[in-house]
Amino acid sequence: MMFNFLLWHAFALVPLPVQAWHSNCKCDPAETCWPSVSQWSAFNHSLGGKLIADVPPALPCYPGPAFDAELCAALDKELTDQTFVSNNPIALSYPTESCPPVNATTTKSPCTIGYEQNSSCSSINETASQAVGTCSIGDQPVYTINATEIADVAAGINLARQKNIRLVVRNTGHDILRRSTGYGSLQIWIRYLRRGIIFQQRYEPTGHCSRSGWTGSSFTIGGGYTWEDVYPLAAANNVVVVGGGTPSVGCLGGWMQGGGHSPSTHDFGLGADQVLEAQVVLATGKIVTANACQNQDIFFAIRGGGPSSYGVVVETVIKAHPTNSVAAQVFGFAPLTPKDMPAFMDAVSIVHQAYPNLSDSGFSGYGSWSLYSPTPLVGNYNTGFRHTIANFGETVAQAEALFAPTAAKLHKYNGTSLYMETKYLSFPNYDTYYHALSDVVIPVGQSAALGSRFLDRQALTADPTALNTMLETIAGTPEQATSNNIVFVGGGQVFADASDPYSGVNPAWRQTYVHNIVARGWAPGSSNATIQAVYDDVTYNKTQAMKTLAPDTGCYMNEADRFDPDYLQDFYGKNLGRLEEVKRRYDPDGVFYCPTCVGSEEYTVQASGQICRNGHGRGASGNREGGGWGSGHGGPPSKRYFAR
Ligand SMILES: Cc1cc2nc3c(=O)[nH]c(=O)nc-3n(C[C@H](O)[C@H](O)[C@H](O)COP(=O)(O)OP(=O)(O)OC[C@H]3O[C@@H](n4cnc5c(N)ncnc54)[C@H](O)[C@@H]3O)c2cc1C
Ligand SMILES: *[C@@H]1O[C@H](CO)[C@@H](O)[C@H](O)[C@H]1NC(C)=O
Ligand SMILES: *[C@@H]1O[C@H](CO)[C@@H](O)[C@H](O)[C@H]1NC(C)=O
Ligand SMILES: *[C@@H]1O[C@H](CO)[C@@H](O)[C@H](O)[C@H]1NC(C)=O
Ligand SMILES: *[C@@H]1O[C@H](CO)[C@@H](O)[C@H](O)[C@H]1NC(C)=O
Ligand SMILES: *[C@@H]1O[C@H](CO)[C@@H](O)[C@H](O)[C@H]1NC(C)=O
Ligand SMILES: *[C@@H]1O[C@H](CO)[C@@H](O)[C@H](O)[C@H]1NC(C)=O
Ligand SMILES: *[C@@H]1O[C@H](CO)[C@@H](O)[C@H](O)[C@H]1NC(C)=O
Ligand SMILES: *[C@@H]1O[C@H](CO)[C@@H](O)[C@H](O)[C@H]1NC(C)=O
Ligand SMILES: *[C@@H]1O[C@H](CO)[C@@H](O)[C@H](O)[C@H]1NC(C)=O
Repeated sequence: MMFNFLLWHAFALVPLPVQAWHSNCKCDPAETCWPSVSQWSAFNHSLGGKLIADVPPALPCYPGPAFDAELCAALDKELTDQTFVSNNPIALSYPTESCPPVNATTTKSPCTIGYEQNSSCSSINETASQAVGTCSIGDQPVYTINATEIADVAAGINLARQKNIRLVVRNTGHDILRRSTGYGSLQIWIRYLRRGIIFQQRYEPTGHCSRSGWTGSSFTIGGGYTWEDVYPLAAANNVVVVGGGTPSVGCLGGWMQGGGHSPSTHDFGLGADQVLEAQVVLATGKIVTANACQNQDIFFAIRGGGPSSYGVVVETVIKAHPTNSVAAQVFGFAPLTPKDMPAFMDAVSIVHQAYPNLSDSGFSGYGSWSLYSPTPLVGNYNTGFRHTIANFGETVAQAEALFAPTAAKLHKYNGTSLYMETKYLSFPNYDTYYHALSDVVIPVGQSAALGSRFLDRQALTADPTALNTMLETIAGTPEQATSNNIVFVGGGQVFADASDPYSGVNPAWRQTYVHNIVARGWAPGSSNATIQAVYDDVTYNKTQAMKTLAPDTGCYMNEADRFDPDYLQDFYGKNLGRLEEVKRRYDPDGVFYCPTCVGSEEYTVQASGQICRNGHGRGASGNREGGGWGSGHGGPPSKRYFAR
């Protein structure tokens, strides 16, 4: 052991002529460049034993020494639980669809993915009492550093850089675009990097940097915490922090670095815009403070310019705002009979047209609608629309008065063609509102195809006929069970923060009232062709309809279509050029890589899963990594790719 340890260090400390001998591809675990078992072991030793050899969560379901019927049976439930998924090094909230559906008669090929319900690496109970085939790591990280110190993060970055190994950064595994996983990689897991959460009644900037102008309260988030760790502390101090609608989301990872919306965003700004300063470990392994006075480029890029691209954020200091009373409205409607669908769609349109004015009068919140939801949406109706919107600092009477013009437009449908229900509630502070009406704990672990678009005032109000055409398309047919999720959190402070010179978020946020997500799933055991058709429908019919209505906006990168043919423009907008400059300057060798992230377009995913820099090496026969069934429409994002 000691010998290996020394060998490792002797090896690692030699300055490596990176460009001279590194392949243009990241080192594949099957290649000789991949560290030997004893080298990994030595690395583990240098980390004090924090290196994990990753194991697919569903392994107990498969034949072999790890088979355990009880553990396997428990997995079906566990893999839908956000906390279980977050506590496992490689389980994902949105698993891949790369594994073909299980067919006990024909499945002989090894499973390639950690798990997928009802696929060949799923935890289902086959009649033989265990699954068929074998289960291997597939396109997930091979090793994980369970980091508890900043030095562990730096050690992982240094190793990945020196050995040309693909690096993955993970906190919760909540990512929807597969940015927190990757084939043949070493993963840095920051969930247990927990150096404390500190409340400051009055923010004291590091290095006396007063350029943020912030003189209010602040929280220091010292690592991989999730919002459930911070919310009770904020409530206890009578302040509001802008955090995820779901409390299991990470505070300083993909949520913040990709933008970050919250029920309090309209009033206090996006998650990225809360950051007053950060500690970041760069691709060189160096730890820096980034704020408005030093490392401003990094400060700009991590504040909304995309995750895991410029460095690993290990600490942030964020704004904390005085709490306020809240008046909330819970509103829903549903067609009384199937022939009332036109009235239903009219009402959906009226509410969409009203959103910009409602936002300007202080409302914000979340809604959803579906032509067929597996569970009732409104009353006993499976077809319906509902939203919960709130107005901070207003009374119920004021909120009711502000909604009155919209209620008047909807009045004629009430009881004649639509079932309608409206409830107003008042809360003494933000925390009680959040826990009563937000705080959603949704099951995870199911695959879905989704796309999204920013809708501005122009899109929502300028041409009602065009709006209705778009709404008809995204409604889908009842059999499609399409779900539309209205994220009505723009306007207000999101617009005001346009003046922030260090905001890396897509500038299209500054004109967005509604971020609309359209999503479709598929029945268990669906054929490849069926799944393919769902993806195509979401990309080329539904998301495209929103693009046609709002051609100049973009979309929210964290909740977006990973097969979007225009993802660079749509995700990063007018900041793309500046972000690419930061990427080139701070990570010229591509130590950080994630699909759809800035700089990822320079890489091509091979059939094996290995990534290679374009224009060199093994050619460009692969495509941008998606891991699902892309379409056959040509062009990189839509090409079919299956993980090994
Ligand atoms: C249940 C659920 C609820 C959600 N609710 C909301 C919501 O209310 N509002 C909203 O805006 N979005 C929401 N999202 C979307 C969410 O913003 C993204 O999934 C986001 O990527 C999650 O970030 P994470 O760090 O928790 O996840 P992870 O999967 O751990 O990481 C996501 C990305 O961030 C990178 N990353 C993680 N940590 C770091 C770090 N320290 N430094 C650098 N890069 C890092 C990863 O490499 C990856 O690219 C939700 C998602 C889920 C699954
Ligand atoms: C790292 O060391 C710890 C403690 O000795 C051990 O439990 C773990 O299995 C090791 N990891 C690897 C990948 O060998
Ligand atoms: C789906 O496609 C994959 C990859 O081509 C193939 O291995 C698998 O057999 C297909 N499954 C079905 C059900 O067609
Ligand atoms: C499984 O494969 C066999 C042989 O190809 C086929 O007859 C059977 O219908 C398949 N079962 C399912 C559920 O697809
Ligand atoms: C798996 O497939 C079976 C049979 O089609 C179905 O009954 C079950 O609900 C599916 N499980 C999940 C988790 O999708
Ligand atoms: C799995 O299948 C076996 C054999 O049919 C059965 O005895 C067992 O109860 C099943 N387990 C679960 C969790 O369904
Ligand atoms: C990661 O490290 C933390 C802190 O030491 C520990 O509690 C946790 O169990 C570890 N997780 C795994 C999967 O090893
Ligand atoms: C929004 O408000 C403006 C100004 O009061 C008004 O002219 C317009 O009709 C309103 N739009 C909608 C859709 O209510
Ligand atoms: C709809 O009608 C019901 C019953 O008359 C009434 O209680 C409710 O307030 C009305 N809702 C709206 C939004 O008009
Ligand atoms: C788009 O929708 C039309 C009409 O519903 C359908 O025929 C077509 O197949 C869809 N296209 C895709 C790519 O799914």
